[in-house]
This record gives sequence, structure tokens and C-alpha cells, in this order.
Amino acid sequence: MEKEKIILDVDTGSDDAVAIVCAMLSDEIDLLGITTVGGNVELKNTTDNTLRVVEWCGRQDEVPVYMGTELSIAATLVPWGIQGMTLPHREAGGESEFSGIHPDHLPIPAPTMKTQDKRAAIWLVEKLLSMPDHSVTLVPVGPQTNMALAIRSDDRILKKIKRVVMMGGSHNVYYPTQGAEFNVWADPEAVEIVLTSGLDVTMVSLDATSDALLSKEQAAAIRAIGTKPASLVATMIEQRLGGAEGSVDYENKSVGAALHDPLAVCAVVHPEVLTDVWDTSCHIDLGRGMAYGETVLGRNYMLIEGPDGEPQNLPVNCHYARRADSEFFYNWVYDILIKDRDSRTV
Ligand code: BDR
Ligand code: CA
Repeated sequence: MEKEKIILDVDTGSDDAVAIVCAMLSDEIDLLGITTVGGNVELKNTTDNTLRVVEWCGRQDEVPVYMGTELSIAATLVPWGIQGMTLPHREAGGESEFSGIHPDHLPIPAPTMKTQDKRAAIWLVEKLLSMPDHSVTLVPVGPQTNMALAIRSDDRILKKIKRVVMMGGSHNVYYPTQGAEFNVWADPEAVEIVLTSGLDVTMVSLDATSDALLSKEQAAAIRAIGTKPASLVATMIEQRLGGAEGSVDYENKSVGAALHDPLAVCAVVHPEVLTDVWDTSCHIDLGRGMAYGETVLGRNYMLIEGPDGEPQNLPVNCHYARRADSEFFYNWVYDILIKDRDSRTV
């Protein structure tokens, strides 16, 4: 079976780390390279963390990493400060606001490998132009600044892209604002550029990823695999179980933690992990008000006047995933790590 060629765009990030591990180790995926973007933490940290993960898994000679963009396309929002303001903990030189869930430095050794010389958007254009038509799947699991810059720089790349499977967007579940999901909120204009590019876009939304929870028992089973990649995945799940990403039941018992980003990687090779997908028009609110960065689905209220004068939805431009199969997702992650362990011992 031909492997799926992907480029992963990350803001590593604890769940990004798990997405990287799965994309690197899966025998169904050919990871052409990783691009980094500012997001969960600053660009220098998302890049350093990405290099840490690649090297921790021993893939430093196989997987090139390209540093991307710090600021959003419109540069009014950055996750650690709004409209140019720096939050106090930054001025004091302190750890990231999200240090519980997304530490500035992942708890694995600092990398010796370096990023490639080219910056992400430039490499994306050059690499994609060198590929056959419709051959590469882009998997952005952070703010989409790099992709939007590449599309705006040279739209000939569009025909090289098979599809986009992104983690982002929200309908029922949102964070960090009253209606927006983080990756979209951190660069709304960039996501709208992607959504209006004519590309085939699957949104693995916060609704879907909040369905695919991993438990502490599953983290323990993964740790028992006994390899370095497995220990990192287990640590990331445990860290998220203890933070705001951990979900509890009505008795306040922990039921699991959402690991958003690897679900998008899983959906590239196993779309069946997404169990409720709406084909819908989807756009991002770009008004600079309360709803800035919200995902607006045509199903509900994006009506235009049709040829017969009757209201109708905007054209479908997105497969919006609402639900996911958590058992399938866990088994997919576990199998990748087991196969990796077995390939090391033969
Ligand atoms: C997304 O935001 C980030 O915190 C995670 O890495 C994930 O990509 C979830 O909303
Ligand atoms: Ca992310």
C-alpha cells in the first residue's frame, strides 16, 4: 500500500508532540517534513520542542524541520498577549501561561539537531511545486499562518495538494473564547484563506477531539510498552489529565484527556475515526468583535439569496467532523507504538 505523503504543521505543544510521534512512526505515513508556527508557546519554543521530539524518537536524519512564522497574518493576536501587549509573566521572563499543559520546554532533552536553513512558507512552496499533482496532504495542527503565506505566495501549489486535514474549529465545544477554538482564533484570517482556496478541507474540530479522550489506564498501558516514544506519549497524556484538558464525570472522577492533534493525523489514514461529519459551508468570523475567530457553519445561519430568491446555504467547502471514535483512536496510537517497539527488536 502506498504511504500517505503528509506535511505536518505544528505549534508543539504537548498534543502536537503526540501528533509528531504518530506521524513519524506510522507505517502508513510518509512524513515529508515538519513546519513550526507560534501558538501554544512562542515560535522559538514550538520549534525547540519539535526538534526535541524528532530527536527523542531517533528520526533526526529522516525528518527535516523548518521554522515558520511567529505572528498571525494580521498580527493582532498572539496567544500569549493580545494586540501587541505582553503578559506580565513574559516580561518577568517566566514560563508560558500554559506551562501546565504546554510547557515552554517539553520534559525531554534539549536537541542537538538544527532546523533547516529555509523558512517554512518558502520550503512549502518549493517542496510542493516539486511534487506530482494532488499528491500531498497538509496537516496543520496549530495556527495556519505558514500555509496561508505559502498559498498567497504561489497559488500553483494548490493543485499539488491532495487535501487539508486540520485540527481546529468549534461548534459546540470552544476555547479560549466564548465561541472560538484556539488554532482558528490565533490566526482567523489564515484559516479563512485556506477555506476559500478551493482545497478539500477536513476540519477535525474541538467537538470531535473532545470525544476522543484518553484515560490514565490507557496512558499506563502505553507506558508499559517500554520505548522512548511510548514514554513520551504516556507523559503527555498524564500531563493533560492533570490540567484543564482533563475531563471529569458527574462524580468528579477523571474520565480522560483530549489529545487533539493526533486525531487529525489519524483521520488522514483512517477517516472512519471521525464518526459524524457534516459537509457544510464553513467560514471564520473576521469582524473584530466578540465573535472574532469563530467557526461559522452554513448549516445554521449562513444563508444567501439563491437564484429563485429563496434563502440557501453557501456552497460546501468543508467536511466538519463533530464526533470521533475514542476506542479506534486509542488502538491506532497503541498499535503504532507497539509496531515501532517490535521493529526495534528484530
Ligand atoms: C488546539 O489548540 C492547542 O492548544 C492544541 O495544541 C490544539 O492544536 C486545540 O484547540
Ligand atoms: Ca497544536
